[in-house]
Amino acid sequence: MDLYEYQARDLFEKYEVPVLAGIIADTPEEAKAAAEKLGGVVVVKAQVKTGGRGKAGGVKVAKTPDEAFEAAQAILGLDIKGHVVKRVMVAAGARIAKEFYFSVLLDRANRSYLSLSSVEGGMEIEELAVERPEALARIEVDPIEGITPEKALEIAKAAKFDDELAPKVADVFVKLFNVYKGEDATLVEVNPLIQSEDGDIIALDGKVSIDENAGFRHPDHEALEDKDAADPLEAKAKQHDLNYVKLDGQVGIIGNGAGLVMSTLDVVAYAGEKHNGVKPANFLDIGGGASATVMAAGLDVILGDEQVKSVFVNVFGGITSCVAVAEGIVKALEILGDTATKPLVVRLDGNQVEEGREILAAANHPLVTLAAGMDEGADKAAELANA
Ligand SMILES: Nc1ncnc2c1ncn2[C@@H]1O[C@H](COP(=O)(O)OP(=O)(O)O)[C@@H](O)[C@H]1O
Ligand SMILES: [Mg+2]
Repeated sequence: MDLYEYQARDLFEKYEVPVLAGIIADTPEEAKAAAEKLGGVVVVKAQVKTGGRGKAGGVKVAKTPDEAFEAAQAILGLDIKGHVVKRVMVAAGARIAKEFYFSVLLDRANRSYLSLSSVEGGMEIEELAVERPEALARIEVDPIEGITPEKALEIAKAAKFDDELAPKVADVFVKLFNVYKGEDATLVEVNPLIQSEDGDIIALDGKVSIDENAGFRHPDHEALEDKDAADPLEAKAKQHDLNYVKLDGQVGIIGNGAGLVMSTLDVVAYAGEKHNGVKPANFLDIGGGASATVMAAGLDVILGDEQVKSVFVNVFGGITSCVAVAEGIVKALEILGDTATKPLVVRLDGNQVEEGREILAAANHPLVTLAAGMDEGADKAAELANA
């Protein structure tokens, strides 16, 4: 889960990372009041979960509370890379002498952590990495040891901070790693980390992604979730504890086991090429069990997707027998009644497959087509989606 800048700022503060005062505002009036409270020059910043806000007109300096009102008026409602601004943060204005870059992230490929840092901050890091890769220091961070004061100095030196600055920024790197570790983050990024004209090191912009799998250790993380912004179908799936990801196609997919579902997506995408380019509409893994209630909940979510034209149920009976799955499908269709309106292609295989198919054949539901194999099922579902 990615956090908003103001949420990252709050976490930074909790771990004593130097940040500036900031107040969130949902209206121009609130922004004006916030500017009055902060006093002096402020910066009004769009709160959206994407970078490049500055370039897109989402970061504006305001010298007076009235200017803050106008800036908020201009920024609220702005569309930044498809994200509509609903909230701004009014931050104390910094007098920037230099802008740097620092991040620490999960490096899955190397089963490790990686820190990136540079004395050339401010600009987009992807650009810097391409145009001046030598200016970006990449230092591996041992996940057990973390960023110790010694490691932080090594990072600072590699990034070419001078002898005077290195110990100062290193101190901040250690604190930022404490955020990363303490909050079970997968990314903590500061761009820019600045040196102010008074010589202070300050995190001026923050991006934090937290690992939802560690949510059980962080009851406070739930409050960080942006329930309004969540996709309504994904939210519904979450309520039912379903592993669902909305995609952009027309063929709804239900399978058991992440591996089988992933390959079902591939097979459907491939079959779709022959049927006007239809594509999978979602990833949905109903896991083991595959009971009627889980099947009904899964179908309910998928059928709620207006883009879906057909559904492919691809289940391999392992520990769960195909009898239980077939009964689950029949019952699920009963539970859904009239809300089930789209054709279903079912492919069953594995444990008690014959008995399972018999149950579905006997039920003879008008929406259900049985497929003998995965390729055939994918093809049929794609054809129906294109009908
Ligand atoms: N509180 C602040 N005071 C002064 N300048 C700021 C402040 N916050 C941001 N800026 C300036 O605006 C630029 C863009 O802001 P930033 O928060 O990094 O947004 P983004 O990365 O989305 O463009 C920064 O590089 C910095 O120069
Ligand atoms: Mg930034």
